[in-house]
Amino acid sequence: MSRSVLMLPGDGIGPEIVAEAEKVLKKVNEQFELGLQFDHGLVGGAAIDETGEPLPGKTLDRAEKSDAILLGAVGGPKWDKLEMAKRPEKGLLGLRSNLKLFANLRPAILYPQLASASSLKPEVVSGLDIMIVRELTGGIYFGQPRGVRKLEGGERQGYNTYVYSESEIRRIGRVAFEAAQQRSGKLCSVDKANVLEVTVLWREIMDDLAKEYPDVELSHMYVDNAAMQLVRAPKQFDVIVTGNMFGDILSDEAAMLTGSIGMLPSASLNSEKQGMYEPCHGSAPDIAGQGIANPLATILSGAMMLRYSLGEEKAAEAIEAAVSKVLDQGLRTADIMSEGAKQVSTREMGDAVLAAL
Ligand code: NAI
Ligand code: MG
Repeated sequence: MSRSVLMLPGDGIGPEIVAEAEKVLKKVNEQFELGLQFDHGLVGGAAIDETGEPLPGKTLDRAEKSDAILLGAVGGPKWDKLEMAKRPEKGLLGLRSNLKLFANLRPAILYPQLASASSLKPEVVSGLDIMIVRELTGGIYFGQPRGVRKLEGGERQGYNTYVYSESEIRRIGRVAFEAAQQRSGKLCSVDKANVLEVTVLWREIMDDLAKEYPDVELSHMYVDNAAMQLVRAPKQFDVIVTGNMFGDILSDEAAMLTGSIGMLPSASLNSEKQGMYEPCHGSAPDIAGQGIANPLATILSGAMMLRYSLGEEKAAEAIEAAVSKVLDQGLRTADIMSEGAKQVSTREMGDAVLAAL
């Protein structure tokens, strides 16, 4: 069976880091005989320069037909003056909405080799390996009605609507329960069920789903406490599932526990397990073209792609083990450089991962 992977390098450091991830994916494609076909497309500023559109029809069409997408990053000062609807970011948002990528998976892993990068004490974070599952296409970010209205007497009032339907909660819940099954079997659902009715329903549905996943141990936590626990004792968590807004905040908080933006991958999935995979960082225009960007977040996004969209767990683990090995070897790009380590370029880092495979 042949499956297709669409590579969308985008802007800034995007092409540099995606090139390294592509090398790595092609290598495991051979090693594990995955039968993957690689295709390339334009998105973001690169697409604007070529076609005038941040998400050309041809790219969307290919994206819809592919099994998975690996995206670098979009945006940069060159396009910052364009009107909102024409900006590079619209390319990314267009892909998310057209492909209905409702499940955002963001692991926060602190590699022991990079422990000094975290702002927390080593004993609090060492060995940290958690996964936030954030609902991405619903909740208060999309609820209607919304806007700013004028009240009687002339005062203005801003309002948004927090809504989740049962089916929306159930489908993100399933993604989280399945992620927990593949990991330690612990799932914490984060809500505000002491105040918000939406999350009373959320909690009820998570409890209901738990009956279908007897191997997963489900717990619940209020979001304010979860924010606190993430910095107090983050290792108590394995998988966290939550709605769009709480997930936005908690996933950034969790990511920063690891201290290194160049190491963090992400996945956004739809109900067909089709997914878009990308590093959490942006296009880093300040270092673009210099060959010094860290390609590991993108390479690790490739591993997530193998795991979640292509069902190739062994190949995913091989990439993750190779990344860990190059860190063991003391190889570091500039962003994660520390005393006594050997600084390498983007390409050298990609080559080292290839060699470790
Ligand atoms: P950024 O993540 O691009 O950069 C923040 C800082 O981290 C910079 O100093 C950068 O050099 C560094 N950095 C980021 N990735 C790195 C890597 N792989 N290796 C080494 N250093 C790295 O965020 P910023 O500066 O706020 O945004 C720059 C552009 O990226 C903007 O146009 C923004 O809109 C876009 N952006 C795109 C995203 C995406 O495509 N998903 C996400 C975030 C920002
Ligand atoms: Mg955010």
